[in-house]
Amino acid sequence: MIFHIPWIYVPVRNVLAIWHQLTKYEIPELKKPSVIMRDRGRVEEIIRNMHGAGPGALQVISDFDMTLTRFAFNGKRCPTSHNILDNSSLISEDCKAKLANFPKSHYYPIEIDSSLSVEDKVPHMVEWWTQAHDLLVQQRIKKDQLAKAVRESDAMLRDGYEVFFGSLKDHSIPLLIFSAGLGDILEEVIEHNGVFHPNVRVFSNYMEFDKNGLLCSFKGQLIHTFNKREGALLNPDQFEQLQDRPNILLLGDSMGDLTMADGVQNVQNILRIGYLNDKVEERRDAYVGSYDIVLEKDETLDIPNAILRYITEGK
Ligand code: TMP
Ligand code: MG
Repeated sequence: MIFHIPWIYVPVRNVLAIWHQLTKYEIPELKKPSVIMRDRGRVEEIIRNMHGAGPGALQVISDFDMTLTRFAFNGKRCPTSHNILDNSSLISEDCKAKLANFPKSHYYPIEIDSSLSVEDKVPHMVEWWTQAHDLLVQQRIKKDQLAKAVRESDAMLRDGYEVFFGSLKDHSIPLLIFSAGLGDILEEVIEHNGVFHPNVRVFSNYMEFDKNGLLCSFKGQLIHTFNKREGALLNPDQFEQLQDRPNILLLGDSMGDLTMADGVQNVQNILRIGYLNDKVEERRDAYVGSYDIVLEKDETLDIPNAILRYITEGK
């Protein structure tokens, strides 16, 4: 393919790229109004490289809450994995009041404030997660009640999730979910939707249960929105099997999700897709500057699905 020939003078390649836009032909979905790209030519070059290398060279690394799940449905916010528990009958009214007040009024605005640096945000995130986990542990939650809480919740995977999970399974492409949410809950969400295929792996905050099946603590190092990079680097064993897959499709909704793939060595091509769900005007510039493709108020997996379709179809 002419686009892979390095000696072709860059402006000539750019002209050729414009002439043969993926947008127009192979991936018309990229014309959706929700799609913003800082550098369309670069995005197309990455996708072409990934198509050239095929599905055997690809892995998908994704965030969970508000990336694989919907942000809103019919104008109403959908729950994060934490919210699923917070809103369930497993939590006392007193605890519900505490959980509902402090994050909404204090921590969530800090999490998404584009005027604050990550360093400024981290202590608040640690405080938020620690308080939330401590409150949950006080509730004596039973392991066997988690599935019911998920079934009765309003959690929804994004439209197109069957195609997304299905095509990754069909092409044996590993899907690594890296979440600062609650691992036990998000696994139930995936299971409940019938898409927990063998190629799916989850790194998250997991609950520890005592011999009576009651939640007594959380396992391992706490994962919050802005330390996913450390988490990835602390898990070299988990990434080891994936080192022979040098192409990465990364999906996220937070600026903290951008570094999720930092544990993978020898990356050849990485395409970062970011869902811009909330505070769109304030955050657009930062998202467009950091993510290769920004999906503004888009509740679907249409774009990842269209890119996957193109990468996995034969040459
Ligand atoms: P994610 O990494 O899968 O997106 O999950 C993290 C999200 O969870 C993050 O956006 C904030 C949210 N969250 C709650 O909704 N309630 C809580 O109590 C905490 C600690 C986090
Ligand atoms: Mg998220």
